[in-house]
Amino acid sequence: MSTPLENLSRRPFDVQAVRGDFPILARPLPNGAKLAYLDNGATAQKPQAVIDKLRAIYETCTANVHRGIHQLGDRVTVELEAAREKIRQFLNAAEAAEIVFTSGTTMSINLVAHAWGRKFLKPGDEILLNEMEHHANLVPWQQTAKATGAKMRFIPLTTDGRLDASHFDRLITSKTKLVAVTAMSNVLGTINPIRELALRAKQVGAVILVDGAQSVPHMPTDVRDPAIDFLAFSGHKLYGPTGIGVLYGRRELLEAMDPFLCGGNMINEVHLESSTWGELPAKFEAGTIPITEAIGLGAAIDYVQSIGFEAIHTQESRLLERALRLLPQQPGVTVYGPTAKHRGSIVSFTVEKVHPHDLADLLDQKGVAVRAGHHCTMPLHDWLDVPATARASFAFYNTEAEVDTLIDSIHFARHKFRLE
Ligand code: ALA
Repeated sequence: MSTPLENLSRRPFDVQAVRGDFPILARPLPNGAKLAYLDNGATAQKPQAVIDKLRAIYETCTANVHRGIHQLGDRVTVELEAAREKIRQFLNAAEAAEIVFTSGTTMSINLVAHAWGRKFLKPGDEILLNEMEHHANLVPWQQTAKATGAKMRFIPLTTDGRLDASHFDRLITSKTKLVAVTAMSNVLGTINPIRELALRAKQVGAVILVDGAQSVPHMPTDVRDPAIDFLAFSGHKLYGPTGIGVLYGRRELLEAMDPFLCGGNMINEVHLESSTWGELPAKFEAGTIPITEAIGLGAAIDYVQSIGFEAIHTQESRLLERALRLLPQQPGVTVYGPTAKHRGSIVSFTVEKVHPHDLADLLDQKGVAVRAGHHCTMPLHDWLDVPATARASFAFYNTEAEVDTLIDSIHFARHKFRLE
């Protein structure tokens, strides 16, 4: 059983103790191997505190929110709005009404692409993107560009996989209406200069949308410093449940947008041929949202804050530096992306003559879970000139011994391929 949250606050960081909060980390895999879970960029494991919260909600106050005139409905509504308030504080948003629950980053970005993009973009306007974006922050803009006649433009990358700032002056102009950018690449780990981009966007009157799916679990986020317009992230990469995500949007923008999904809860008045919309955030929360998951996300934020971003950063930097030092020393291994100074705890790599899928399969035999493929970034892989990579993505509960297991397992894979 995990330590209760109140006892976790400000405890000194002890990775073994922290691992005890995540029941899955101690379970042998079906093949008997010890798990080294290095696929946190895909989804993070859940601490007992989150699992307990989900169970408590289902056991004690299953009901719908904002509807039931009964005690269970009241209780779960209070829990949901408390979670929203936690998220507001976590992001330093001005008001809880700016926190919209969605199913995840993808839906958050699609919401903006439809409800803001299709309403406000017009032919000649420019949407500024770049080649490292996840498909979720690229394809919705392709569709919106097609629908509106807006033009997509792309910030070139430096050879080490960072945004090339020497093109900002040329690309961020009065035609730019939207800058959509990831705060941290899900493949290269690159941490992008959000402050500079936000300031430049503001100077030309453009809106900035930040994909925080990878950054939010690893570093503090403040939507007012630098001031950003939209932020999207997912609960499941932040040690919370799947099926829940957040769109932060500045009130003024959310108010100007039309709804994305229509139905129950998001209306003010409905007549047979017309309707008016509810207040924020209900206007963007049609139907029954993932209530328990949203409350679970609140518990995940409590948990992350009990560890603290300073401790998270220290531990993840240690792992990243070890991986960036050891991986390139191994025969046939190529690592992609910038130095540790410019990246979060993600390392994508290839092993010569071993396809990343075969590599991931062989690593799995040793209990090492990594992701392999194009990681929903086909244009970035075109730019890297490889069809696929293997990716190790670290969380604060990972250990240096697990980085070493990754290295040993790469040798195991090379041995299986008769490369050593
Ligand atoms: N977008 C997630 C990843 O990069 C699923 O793995």
